[in-house]
Amino acid sequence: MAKRTRPILGFLMLLSAIAIIIMWWNDDIISMNRLAAVIPLSIKNGVISCNLDKTSPVEPETLQNHPLCPNRKRKHFPHFSYPPATPRQWITQMDTTNSTFSQFTIVNDTESYSVCDQLELLIEARNGYDEPKTYGGDLFRAKIFTRNASFSAGSGTDGEVIDLGNGKYSALFTLKWAGDVSINVILAVPSEAVFELQNLKETLQPRENYLGKFEKEIDGNNVEEDVLCGPVPERRLTSICNLSNPSVGLTWYCQKPKSSLLSCSDWTAFRTLEWPSNKRIEDEGYSRRSSVVHRPAVRIKGFPKHVIVNSKSGDFISEQVDRLPVCGQQHDSLQVIPWVAGFYQNKRWYPPTCKVNHFPSDGPERKNCLANKNVYFYGDSTIRIVHSNLIKSLFGANLTVGKEEHDIHLHYRFHHIPIRKFFWYKLSTLYFITNELDGIGSNETAIVVICLWAHFQPLYRSFYEQRIKSIADAALRLLNRNPTVVVMFKGGNTQTPYGPRVQYLNDHYARDNEEALRRILKSYPKIHFLDAWDMSKGQLGKPNTHPPKPHASNLVDQMLTIACPRDV
Ligand SMILES: *[C@@H]1O[C@H](CO)[C@@H](O)[C@H](O)[C@H]1NC(C)=O
Ligand SMILES: *[C@@H]1O[C@H](CO)[C@@H](O)[C@H](O)[C@H]1NC(C)=O
Ligand SMILES: *[C@@H]1O[C@H](CO)[C@@H](O)[C@H](O)[C@H]1NC(C)=O
Ligand SMILES: *[C@@H]1O[C@H](CO)[C@@H](O)[C@H](O)[C@H]1NC(C)=O
Ligand SMILES: *[C@@H]1O[C@H](CO)[C@@H](O)[C@H](O)[C@H]1NC(C)=O
Ligand SMILES: *[C@@H]1O[C@H](CO)[C@@H](O)[C@H](O)[C@H]1NC(C)=O
Repeated sequence: MAKRTRPILGFLMLLSAIAIIIMWWNDDIISMNRLAAVIPLSIKNGVISCNLDKTSPVEPETLQNHPLCPNRKRKHFPHFSYPPATPRQWITQMDTTNSTFSQFTIVNDTESYSVCDQLELLIEARNGYDEPKTYGGDLFRAKIFTRNASFSAGSGTDGEVIDLGNGKYSALFTLKWAGDVSINVILAVPSEAVFELQNLKETLQPRENYLGKFEKEIDGNNVEEDVLCGPVPERRLTSICNLSNPSVGLTWYCQKPKSSLLSCSDWTAFRTLEWPSNKRIEDEGYSRRSSVVHRPAVRIKGFPKHVIVNSKSGDFISEQVDRLPVCGQQHDSLQVIPWVAGFYQNKRWYPPTCKVNHFPSDGPERKNCLANKNVYFYGDSTIRIVHSNLIKSLFGANLTVGKEEHDIHLHYRFHHIPIRKFFWYKLSTLYFITNELDGIGSNETAIVVICLWAHFQPLYRSFYEQRIKSIADAALRLLNRNPTVVVMFKGGNTQTPYGPRVQYLNDHYARDNEEALRRILKSYPKIHFLDAWDMSKGQLGKPNTHPPKPHASNLVDQMLTIACPRDV
């Protein structure tokens, strides 16, 4: 039996490999559609090997020039968020991708490089027996950086690390500064964990348990009841409250309170239950599954670990950055499939396709930009840190002074449920972004900055998409009735999840949402985009849900550049 099925499986894998290669040549949309179509192969007896060595690690070039290096064409990259294509079965930890033995080498390494040269890495995934892996699906992340007493710089890969499908991966960089450039490659999520996480997302819903409080005052007495809630009417509930609200992009159900005194309209509060009440992979009798899912991200070894970029061409990139259009002037900075990375240099972030104006925190430019305007921040804590950074730089801790001086109005509101916090939120204190946007007047001078992703990680992708679409539609209505308003979305960023949180929050889930967000926003060309994902890939500090300095201040510069292109 086994002998007869192998060639068939091999043939299927070859077919899908050919399909993938064809897709790479097509546009974004086709590769996105592919995501929906791919069903992970079910392979009975563990690993099968498959000769994909003919796959070229070098991507075909496009006709467009590289924005930072016009002497080069830019590459074509495959899909942003590729689905796991690993076998379902692995026997022990030793079969899984092992960060001790996995390694990278530089393809065609030379003595010296110039700015704008391409640096290419070949990453080889190996298992605990130090054997090469034969299938893909690992989530590797790679960056280059330089740091000494007087200089620092960092940049992620152009595009995502490319999965060659055979246990090998290709990482491409554009060298953007001169000096001793170090290379850092981490195994963020082993392929076996990517597979489990994907599987969990599809089969073990809801990943988290949510509660709803229903309450009502009757004759001076408070009647209240807490019930289970979630995005699907699950557990074959005979009596449910359908609390969905299509106008704000919410699908939500709660058990109907048992008390006949309470009705569905008495829903007053929301909370997330603590971890132990959730469905967890440990509970599913697969401790080995959790062992691979809970593994921390680890740096892998490489040969050599750094390259020398000669200083002759040192200032070339800064001249080139100066020639880029100012961010926000052209609505084309959104890379649905990332293909070229920006870079940090001495605490300033340079996006790859447009120029950011610097608004020094001690200069008058920030206040001039925002004077007599309403600035609305909507979303999660990763946009709240930008709001806080702006407040601090404008007014110190004292907002009232600024208000009196410049009539600047900064607002922040959280994005309504889901909220991954373990205490009660009264619904009367929560606001849907869609409704907030619909409330902005046609004669207001306003800047709107929106970001939501982190709290949506454990939920269905469609749950997230529905919300984003609703908000983007509201933004479009706003822009139509008030074309002076500037609306921008910020994307998500890389994180370092740890412990049991990893099964709810991880870079595989975050990247999946990021891809959904970009694909949706592509249809709203009037909405601007701040690429925090690319920034976090290139940052010197460790990945964190709240990325370390100077992440927020660079987002402020980008935001103000888009809002006030002529003020500098
Ligand atoms: C590496 O060098 C060899 C020999 O010069 C060449 O054939 C090959 O195309 C090069 N590969 C890359 C990725 O540059
Ligand atoms: C990696 O391989 C080494 C050597 O076989 C082993 O000791 C270690 O436990 C493995 N790591 C993981 C995370 O499985
Ligand atoms: C630090 O790096 C920069 C850029 O590569 C270089 O120009 C400078 O000489 C270096 N300084 C030291 C002290 O190594
Ligand atoms: C819940 O209500 C929404 C909107 O009113 C509706 O689209 C959906 O079908 C309802 N769900 C069920 C299970 O009836
Ligand atoms: C903020 O500034 C105002 C006006 O100068 C002052 O009255 C108030 O005490 C200050 N508040 C704080 C917390 O410093
Ligand atoms: C904006 O319009 C509303 C209603 O049309 C009006 O009440 C308000 O005074 C206007 N505000 C400004 C700043 O013009």
